[in-house]
Amino acid sequence: MPAISASAPGKAILVGEHAVVYRRPAIAVPVTQIQAKASVFADIRGKPGEVWIEAPSIHLATHLSQLPPIHPIAHLSRLLLAELGLARFPALHLKVTSTIPIAAGLGSGAAVSVATLRALSAFVGHPLPDESVSALAFEQEKLFHGTPSGIDNTVITYAQPIFFVREQPFELLHVAAPFTLVIGDTGVRSSTAVAVGAVRERWQADAPAYEAIFDRIGAVAVQARAAIETGRLLDLGRLMDQNHALLQQIDVSSPELDRLVAAARQAGAWGAKLSGAGLGGNMIALVDPQQADRVAAALQAAGAVRTWLTQVASRPGLDRASSDR
Ligand code: MEV
Repeated sequence: MPAISASAPGKAILVGEHAVVYRRPAIAVPVTQIQAKASVFADIRGKPGEVWIEAPSIHLATHLSQLPPIHPIAHLSRLLLAELGLARFPALHLKVTSTIPIAAGLGSGAAVSVATLRALSAFVGHPLPDESVSALAFEQEKLFHGTPSGIDNTVITYAQPIFFVREQPFELLHVAAPFTLVIGDTGVRSSTAVAVGAVRERWQADAPAYEAIFDRIGAVAVQARAAIETGRLLDLGRLMDQNHALLQQIDVSSPELDRLVAAARQAGAWGAKLSGAGLGGNMIALVDPQQADRVAAALQAAGAVRTWLTQVASRPGLDRASSDR
């Protein structure tokens, strides 16, 4: 029997993380080389409500009813049933796979939510529009990340570069000159909730100093938008460097991140910074495509456990629900 499948990409924050929680603008881009995928199959022998879940990357194979209510998949299922006004799902198998590393700042949780919401809603005959997918994925993020800004679920749902201000309609970015990022994984797992919570404590202890830094990060995001929209990539690189220095000032970098950022710059990157919540996870480097392999090799020599290359361009969304065999 054909499955209903949907996928969603990873993401990188280009500029503005953390300050975006405090309503400053930020820019995020999809990373389509890494994806979460959800596939739903009818279980013709099962009774209504019998949902079998398989998620090999987190070693999960169980019935939905066996999961504790706080489990992410149980919570997401309840959100979706409420949205659709259904009491239960028909008997089905849900398989979730992902090539996005967990707790690495690349949006793995939001991508799993988006792919799962799309596949399940299409399976029951009510494919959700992007707006609802993003809103439900945001509800899910709130449970697991404390006070998320909403940037991750938005960029992952729409799979396009976005300019984002919390609680305002997001804007799709016009990318005048496509550009290349090398992403380097420190291999150090880090929790977004912990990093965002630590920044909040320090902000509470010294609000004027933190507000001033957030203002400077917001100004970097506005200038980065102008650089992207006019194809000034060297300026964009310089702004990424400035953003990294500001993130160091709010203490969300780490020795591993700083080492990779320095290695990328030494290997010729136009700019480099940590990306996402920090304290581990990933960094990004803006590179001349001709230098991409050289920068990736330098990152690996400096301790990156993995690198990816991604091109950022304005493009239509790639990740709609689809039927396959
Ligand atoms: C995480 O990708 C970005 C943060 O700014 C948190 C958020 O915006 O929710 C650190």
